[in-house]
Amino acid sequence: MATLALRSVRKAFGQEEVVKGIDLEAADGEFLVFVGPSGCGKSTLLRLIAGLEDPTDGDVEIGGARVNDLAPSERGIAMVFQSYALYPHMTVFDNMAFGLKLSGTDRSSLTARVQDAARILRIDHLLGRRPRELSGGQRQRVAIGRAIVREPAVFLFDEPLSNLDAALRVDMRLELARLHERLGATMVYVTHDQVEAMTLADRIAVINAGRLEQAGRPLDLYRSPANRFVAGFIGSPRMNFVGASISSVNDGHAAAAMAAGSTVNLPIAQAVTLGSPATLGIRPEHLTLGDEGDLLFAGQVRMVERLGAASLVHLTLSSGEDLVVQQAGDTRVRAGDQATAACRIGDCHLFNADGQRISDRDPA
Ligand SMILES: Nc1ncnc2c1ncn2[C@@H]1O[C@H](COP(=O)(O)OP(=O)(O)OP(=O)(O)O)[C@@H](O)[C@H]1O
Ligand SMILES: [Mg+2]
Repeated sequence: MATLALRSVRKAFGQEEVVKGIDLEAADGEFLVFVGPSGCGKSTLLRLIAGLEDPTDGDVEIGGARVNDLAPSERGIAMVFQSYALYPHMTVFDNMAFGLKLSGTDRSSLTARVQDAARILRIDHLLGRRPRELSGGQRQRVAIGRAIVREPAVFLFDEPLSNLDAALRVDMRLELARLHERLGATMVYVTHDQVEAMTLADRIAVINAGRLEQAGRPLDLYRSPANRFVAGFIGSPRMNFVGASISSVNDGHAAAAMAAGSTVNLPIAQAVTLGSPATLGIRPEHLTLGDEGDLLFAGQVRMVERLGAASLVHLTLSSGEDLVVQQAGDTRVRAGDQATAACRIGDCHLFNADGQRISDRDPA
């Protein structure tokens, strides 16, 4: 098992720099998840850790030692990709044993390791089959098994579940959580999936355009996003943003007057200029229909999405801005109705013109 560190890592392909100086550490045994929009550099970061790409600048460390000059096979890592690329003509056993055979592991310990991994992944009854005789989830398990038998210090996963259907993803997510608990290995995991990131991660690193926006525990990012990007990226449905301007500043508080009408007074942690533009952020799940709350928004219902367990009510405010309200269960409001949404001050986030969060106090 091992720690992992990226030290001011940069990567350019030709003229285009796609990783723009990332500093990040994973503790021994930590489950670190990279999230970010398509093309932000997540896979490139994994490939830099794996040694499949060389950094243009900066260092990669595994177990406290710089590994920039080590080949992938010498780094003590194993990588699982989205496309599991099993050898079609080999049995599950041989697929899992292949890497060990190449490295000259003796037959008896090789067999023991494959059987062990197969038991952990509950595919021990499938060892004699070929990949085409397996379901997608079983194939994915073989790909993970192939990584486990190598007993790596660090596991690298690049969207390993994205080819699976929704139900299977949930199963495999639980399997992965169990696997992490059982192996205690350091894991770095790339995903687009909110829920995967929130549930699997000890810590999430939010990447945007080759830069680290914020790293922290899932609920810390949810409650105290450092900036508007993280606020909009973590949480689903995404946080509502409403335009405002700073109408007064005093005594550790700032008042934000919204284009949509009301004004809110919030404790702030950073200096802010009177009159400067700002953005108020409120999560859909922190809004309720009705007028019970500290801050009210009146608008017209544009659309209602009924999801069964919840309804998403889309309001258009007088400013023309959209506001999504998440209600438990069904709702009686319909498109065209006038409606009011309310929230608590403690659930509001305020961002300055640069998108940095300036409101103080972690909304509970
Ligand atoms: N070998 C390469 N040569 C040139 N450009 C590359 C190469 N590999 C990646 N890129 C570019 O680097 C950027 C980051 O790519 P990367 O694959 O890391 O993104 P990603 O965050 O994994 O995206 P996705 O979520 O779509 O998988 C992209 O703009 C991509 O086009
Ligand atoms: Mg990728």
